[in-house]
Amino acid sequence: MIENQSLLGEIPAPLLAWYGRSARVLPWRSDPQPYAVWVSEIMLQQTRVEAALPYFQRFLQALPTVKDLAEAPEEQLLKLWEGLGYYNRARNLQKAAQIIVECHGGNVPASAKELCSLPGIGRYTAGAIASIAFGQREPAVDGNVLRVLSRVLLSGADILKEKTKAEFARAISAVLPQDRPGDFNQALMELGATVCLPNGAPRCGACPLAAICLANKTGRQAEFPQKAEKKARRVEARTVFVLFDRAGRVAVQKRPKTGLLAGLWELPGEDGALSLREAENALRAQGLQVQAIQSAGKAKHVFTHVEWKMEGVAALVEGTLGKARFVTPKELEEEYCLPSAFAAYVQKLPALWAAISAGPEA
Ligand code: ADE
Repeated sequence: MIENQSLLGEIPAPLLAWYGRSARVLPWRSDPQPYAVWVSEIMLQQTRVEAALPYFQRFLQALPTVKDLAEAPEEQLLKLWEGLGYYNRARNLQKAAQIIVECHGGNVPASAKELCSLPGIGRYTAGAIASIAFGQREPAVDGNVLRVLSRVLLSGADILKEKTKAEFARAISAVLPQDRPGDFNQALMELGATVCLPNGAPRCGACPLAAICLANKTGRQAEFPQKAEKKARRVEARTVFVLFDRAGRVAVQKRPKTGLLAGLWELPGEDGALSLREAENALRAQGLQVQAIQSAGKAKHVFTHVEWKMEGVAALVEGTLGKARFVTPKELEEEYCLPSAFAAYVQKLPALWAAISAGPEA
């Protein structure tokens, strides 16, 4: 049970008035077509509005309809998603589009229940699409909304718990306005994204709910929302190979179909931090001749549950490596989607090639 729920009824009027004055103009708001709203919501699960905008525009230009998305080659889809991360979201988006084409005549379903049955669409996203695109009175409670509501109600519930999300969703359902449920949901998200900021920096002076908000009244904004300590991320050491052939092409290979970065292209690598000598031996053991080898520097990448601590090794090699293929840097840039975990090394490709091709043994 959420504390001080009776205050919720006071939220809609000042919130909607503020939204009318202050909402950012965004393409999926100006013209809330179901497909556009859906794509925007999936992108916004992981990315801030400003960062997602260019991706959104490019995506809709390349794949303007559900059918286009359903039929898109996987490489095109992943390329359009490159830089956003969480590639399974793009894959689920496509799977859902295929179901919509096959089972719903290409029209995004309007009910939250049907939306929820599609791959990649959970309660939050279903509520957002149903309310924003179809005007249905459905709640859409994301992290921003949980922060706003926890502060307004001074709620100590753990916002990482599904139970808390469900309780807030139920509570907010009761006060969703009949005529503008989509605006109301977006206004709560917008307030969380632009005013009721996390990490002790809320802009309460600009908040339309300041007069209602119990955290503001008691000066306890920094204590809310409350969440249980998360488990620390596992740190994995990894050696990443930047392997050039004599033509300056770089080796890439596909990752396994399951697990982290499933089925995406990668720079080859090995578990553990190998020294240059160990790295050279490992490459030789795989049948490659190593003409020159040098460090490509350290890098780290933080995933949701794992952190990679990477040791880069650049080498000039001859021979073939398992299923890897050698591609030019231009092909890599234009045709392959390499997850941002490898960005530190991809950026260095010209410098690494210059150094390794000028080496004494090259
Ligand atoms: N975050 C997720 N969806 C959003 C939306 N429609 N408006 C603002 N922030 C959001």
